[in-house]
Amino acid sequence: MKLAFALLLLISSQATDIDYTSLISGMLEGSQLIPPYSSTKCNLSQSKSSESISFTTLIIDSISFSKACGWASATKTLSMFLNHPSLLSKAEEDLNTFLKFILYRSKEDPRTDGFTLGQMLEYRIASLSPFVNQFTAKSEEGKRKLQSSPYPIAVFHGLGDCCCFPGMIEFTKYLGKEAATFAKCVEVGDGPASSWLMGFQKQVNSACANMNKYPEFQNGVNVVGLSQGGLIARALAEMCNITVHNVITMGGPHMGVMSIPNCETGFYCDIFNDVIELGVYDSFVQENTGPAGYFKDPLTYNEYLAKSEFLAAANNEKSINTQYANGFKAINQLVLIEFTEDTVVDPKTSEQFGYFKIGSKKDLLLYNQTDDYINDILGLKTLDEQGKIVFEYIVGNHLQFNNSEVQRTVIPYLVN
Ligand SMILES: *[C@@H]1O[C@H](CO)[C@@H](O)[C@H](O)[C@H]1NC(C)=O
Ligand SMILES: *[C@@H]1O[C@H](CO)[C@@H](O)[C@H](O)[C@H]1NC(C)=O
Ligand SMILES: *[C@@H]1O[C@H](CO)[C@@H](O)[C@H](O)[C@H]1NC(C)=O
Ligand SMILES: *[C@@H]1O[C@H](CO)[C@@H](O)[C@H](O)[C@H]1NC(C)=O
Repeated sequence: MKLAFALLLLISSQATDIDYTSLISGMLEGSQLIPPYSSTKCNLSQSKSSESISFTTLIIDSISFSKACGWASATKTLSMFLNHPSLLSKAEEDLNTFLKFILYRSKEDPRTDGFTLGQMLEYRIASLSPFVNQFTAKSEEGKRKLQSSPYPIAVFHGLGDCCCFPGMIEFTKYLGKEAATFAKCVEVGDGPASSWLMGFQKQVNSACANMNKYPEFQNGVNVVGLSQGGLIARALAEMCNITVHNVITMGGPHMGVMSIPNCETGFYCDIFNDVIELGVYDSFVQENTGPAGYFKDPLTYNEYLAKSEFLAAANNEKSINTQYANGFKAINQLVLIEFTEDTVVDPKTSEQFGYFKIGSKKDLLLYNQTDDYINDILGLKTLDEQGKIVFEYIVGNHLQFNNSEVQRTVIPYLVN
């Protein structure tokens, strides 16, 4: 009870007279859950007894404590916290933020040290504090909540890219680190060649199947898609048996493209370029190339409706598939990031569900001016009216972004 009282004091930002000994012994008790536990090594009874400490002091002491006990991930977590004065001051205002943060963070680190400090803290106070009760790890229900909050992240790369390339490895790691949760780049087919030479619906099916390889995704997921990976990310919400929470697309051609991006490098480009010669709506081309699946010529819209293997179906333009619409409408937040100088996705407004007016190659419609929106065939209007769509812009050409842009446009939607 003493411990809970101390932490409730912290929560209310009146960090005076904290019973530090109780707090530490609470951690120690929690640490009994870690095999193997060295009671000698982690015995901090010599530590400061009851005295006023600041939140910062608590963190500093916790670091030495977790260091002494060899809890590498806890140390790392807390150190990082210290190096971010803004995070720290925010946490001072709201201990819940702090707890959530280290809790989430701890899920990312290898469990070599069993429970991390954050989990111990949480474990100790969860049943007593209304602020963190929702994250209790004690009950079965609590464990489920713990596993599903915040959502792990699935990342999908663009055309010609690969989860195995350094750029995607870095990007995925960065998202996981910043959102402090499990993040995985989910491969589609075998990577670069498949992104060009696998029909788009097949790519989506492959992505869907690969999602099942990760138990982390079973209770729901946030998805981030780059370029055509944005279409895959969105399609997962419509077509897969997984709970997709937030969908973030960076330069995703949601309403299609009017020209196929150039394939210039790699042996598969020769194949692709030969195949596409057959005509973009040719059934062989639709079934065996990726980009053809989201090609849409506004001058031959009926042909698109009849022959587009992927996009006309995914957008419910061909016919209304209620499963797709229900999946789409169940998205919690749809974040549509457009690159202001994009020369790859044609037209770039497609990245925010805008497109050419049917029958025109020059009149552009905003997302909410298209028939698709007005008739709400997929649920775009529904989401919009519920305030669930976020329109973001990044200044630059296709996929030209840096970490500060990711901080601004992506991370905020991965931490809730
Ligand atoms: C911790 O250390 C104190 C004093 O050094 C000792 O009295 C106590 O028994 C130790 N506790 C454990 C669990 O080893
Ligand atoms: C999704 O689940 C439903 C019901 O559980 C099942 O009928 C359907 O075949 C599943 N679809 C896929 C793609 O696994
Ligand atoms: C369509 O969206 C734009 C941009 O968000 C907004 O300014 C406009 O009012 C919307 N139009 C309608 C009819 O809702
Ligand atoms: C990141 O990109 C944005 C947009 O292009 C630019 O304004 C900003 O200066 C860049 N920041 C850094 C740190 O490079």
